[in-house]
Amino acid sequence: MASSSLSLYLVGFLAILAGGVMGLQGKTEETGEMVMMEEEELLGLFDVMGSLLDEPGWAQVHQEPCTNTPWPGVGCEVGEEDPPIFHVTLIHVGPDVVNPPCKSSAKLSDSLLKLPYLKTLSIFNCFVASPVSLSRSLFGALSSLEHLSLQSNPSLFGEIPPGLSSLKDLRVLSLSQNNIQGNIPSELGGLVKLEQLDLSYNNLSGEIPEEIGGLESLSILDLSWNAIEGEVPSYLGQLQLLQKVDLCSNRIHGKIAPELGNLNRLVLLDLSHNFINGPIPETFSGLEQLQYLILDQNPINSHIPFFLGTLKKLVSISFSGCGLTGTIPNLSLLKNLTALSLDNNNLSGTVPPNLGSLPNLDHLNLSNNKLRGELVFPDEFIYRLGERLDVRGNEGLCTCNQQYKENISAYLQTPVCLGTEGISENRTCPKQQHPDDSKGISPFLYHGKISSDSPFQDSQLMSASFGLCFLSSIVSIVSSFCFHYV
Ligand SMILES: *[C@@H]1O[C@H](CO)[C@@H](O)[C@H](O)[C@H]1NC(C)=O
Ligand SMILES: *[C@@H]1O[C@H](CO)[C@@H](O)[C@H](O)[C@H]1NC(C)=O
Ligand SMILES: *[C@@H]1O[C@H](CO)[C@@H](O)[C@H](O)[C@H]1NC(C)=O
Ligand SMILES: *[C@@H]1O[C@H](CO)[C@@H](O)[C@H](O)[C@H]1NC(C)=O
Ligand SMILES: *[C@@H]1O[C@H](CO)[C@@H](O)[C@H](O)[C@H]1NC(C)=O
Ligand SMILES: *[C@@H]1O[C@H](CO)[C@@H](O)[C@H](O)[C@H]1NC(C)=O
Ligand SMILES: *[C@@H]1O[C@H](CO)[C@@H](O)[C@H](O)[C@H]1NC(C)=O
Repeated sequence: MASSSLSLYLVGFLAILAGGVMGLQGKTEETGEMVMMEEEELLGLFDVMGSLLDEPGWAQVHQEPCTNTPWPGVGCEVGEEDPPIFHVTLIHVGPDVVNPPCKSSAKLSDSLLKLPYLKTLSIFNCFVASPVSLSRSLFGALSSLEHLSLQSNPSLFGEIPPGLSSLKDLRVLSLSQNNIQGNIPSELGGLVKLEQLDLSYNNLSGEIPEEIGGLESLSILDLSWNAIEGEVPSYLGQLQLLQKVDLCSNRIHGKIAPELGNLNRLVLLDLSHNFINGPIPETFSGLEQLQYLILDQNPINSHIPFFLGTLKKLVSISFSGCGLTGTIPNLSLLKNLTALSLDNNNLSGTVPPNLGSLPNLDHLNLSNNKLRGELVFPDEFIYRLGERLDVRGNEGLCTCNQQYKENISAYLQTPVCLGTEGISENRTCPKQQHPDDSKGISPFLYHGKISSDSPFQDSQLMSASFGLCFLSSIVSIVSSFCFHYV
């Protein structure tokens, strides 16, 4: 950098900072052996922090941010120069670093370009009032950047600059929960070191560019909660390191490409809330590491896949509202299955009793199907699940009370099995034999809908829509559920 521009810069800065920078200069010159910083970089940092934080005196308080007066959101590393000097390698503003807070006019200063050693830039919940956009030139020069996270900034608008693709060392790119729109630039496909791409919760549109197939290091792809169109790209099947693919809540249509079945490290696949058609490809039987398979609210409209029962690592299967037909497959090998949501489909046949012996099953929703016959689950299972067991809305499904301690048909809101009206075909409950029950209540057919004083009327079961998407997390692969209560 030309020294003239530096001194110009200094003049401007000193006017604001008064003695601040001078003081630092004196001190560092005195202690000649101390590891120092280049002025231009230091002033660049002051400028960047000054444009973000609501503390005009930040530079004065943190005159030596790499040594004596650190701030938790700034990190430095000693460079390879001789004599060694400090370089700013990390800037982080977020919920864990809240003092001082961002100012309402916070913006990204062009002085970022004076921090060429920056490896991590993460700014959370900072641009909330005045509009900020990602300028085209801003990131181009930050050639050392490995981790760029600008998250939860509601006033961060505009498009993703294609120039981001010049950040060849980028491993993590997260622009989640901003107000970014436009297409995903195809240039991003050049980021061959990228491991995590999280663009979730924005207003991105257009199709997923084919070039994404070039992100050969990618393990996490989260494009959920946007307005992305087109089909699930078959070239995702080339990205052998993928562990998490979350495309939920977009406008994706068409069939699922069979190539996705090649992703033998995939742990999570969430395609819920789209317009995807079936059938689910047979190749999915190769997704041996799969733990979370979430396809809710898609017009799959085909047969429930049999191979589900062979994906032994499955923890959660969610197929609500997919128009699935056929019978519930044998899932007895899925010892780790904790949640099975098959509600709002067209499933027929009986409910396999061995679901009740899955040791970890804790949420079972079979409501609103065409299941029939007697429901036979162990007491222990029924009480363990409580309100998380939902079998309502299956006209042919019935229960027999006498094998349970309680009135199970009332509890589960299913009729008692009787051989009438085709309700439960030929299944008739044995006669009631309660020795202490002098009233000798006879089996009955439960006609009514849910009575208003039913225990099930209470809060969650009735109102919770188990709309299940996975929150992306830049650090962990298996992230927590987000339950969207309606
Ligand atoms: C999303 O972007 C579209 C244009 O692509 C625009 O019409 C729409 O208003 C935006 N929605 C939101 C919530 O910003
Ligand atoms: C089930 O989970 C346990 C604990 O996480 C794990 O050790 C085991 O390998 C899993 N079983 C299968 C079949 O994946
Ligand atoms: C079940 O199938 C019928 C006709 O085949 C269709 O009208 C109905 O919408 C389907 N129900 C569900 C929940 O998919
Ligand atoms: C379900 O699969 C298991 C394991 O393959 C098998 O032992 C069992 O008999 C099957 N159950 C039914 C009802 O087909
Ligand atoms: C089961 O799914 C239905 C929607 O089909 C939903 O209304 C109900 O709350 C769900 N029950 C549980 C226990 O999640
Ligand atoms: C079971 O509960 C229902 C509804 O609460 C009630 O009408 C019926 O009499 C009960 N049946 C038995 C056998 O207790
Ligand atoms: C019901 O029982 C009758 C006579 O016992 C038999 O003819 C009929 O096939 C049975 N129906 C079903 C669906 O099993």
